[in-house]
Amino acid sequence: MKIIDGKALAAKMRAQLKEKIDASELKPGLAVVLVGEDPASQIYVRNKIKACEEIGVKSYAYRLPADTSQKQLEDLLEELAASKDIHGILLQLPLPKGLQAEPAMAKIPYEKDVDGFSKENLGKLVLKEDGLVSCTPYGVMKMLESEGISPKGKRAVVLGRSDTVGKPMALLLLNADATVTVCHSKTQNLKEICQEADILVAAIGRAKFVTEDMVKEGAVVVDVGINRDENGKLCGDVDYENVAKKASYITPVPGGVGPMTITMLMYNTCLAAFESI
Ligand code: GUN
Repeated sequence: MKIIDGKALAAKMRAQLKEKIDASELKPGLAVVLVGEDPASQIYVRNKIKACEEIGVKSYAYRLPADTSQKQLEDLLEELAASKDIHGILLQLPLPKGLQAEPAMAKIPYEKDVDGFSKENLGKLVLKEDGLVSCTPYGVMKMLESEGISPKGKRAVVLGRSDTVGKPMALLLLNADATVTVCHSKTQNLKEICQEADILVAAIGRAKFVTEDMVKEGAVVVDVGINRDENGKLCGDVDYENVAKKASYITPVPGGVGPMTITMLMYNTCLAAFESI
């Protein structure tokens, strides 16, 4: 069994991005918009800005009060959309009650949609066209690639059907020629489906949901979850200790997919700025 070290891969990729930025006249710019005081969002935004500083992306942080109006938010996003110094725009979700994410996100042009959440970028992914890809699933693909794991012809099972992780993950695996099954809360015979998986990606947000009996011997197990267990300790969607005994590769939590997400945000920002990497 091999542990896929997301922290090490993230560090390597960030160093490569820094080199590219240092060698360039153009400084990529990322605008991060946070509305309200959600504590988790504040931490995410702080970490994103820190990652920018580390590699030489210029960050523009906008922290707006929770009582910001829909129009004020949309006006700001329009202004950022028009700025030539800003190559990527990220609207931190969820928004406070009373604000609608969809019309706000529609103000972000797809070329600057570094989260890959827009209809255009999701459509491009469906059509297997170049576009900006959602950071977490894209990071998972980079982790597989770094270990020489090809999804081609494999049975891949994705647990979770969110618009931000499960669906784009399934599309990326499909585009890489895997045979993909997406499971969700209404899926029947979930255990049997998981047992068929050569590549199993868990993105459901339930602590230690994937147990040893659900995993095929030699499977690649990717854990996207970030949860707390009964003792308040950070854990993934996978019962790591026991599943690790059966898996050929496994990603840990913490230190697996997590560090790759912000790295892919930096990658997407550079892609948006340089149009290629
Ligand atoms: N909220 C939680 N994760 C994310 C993310 O990756 N992007 C945005 N915009 N909001 C989030």
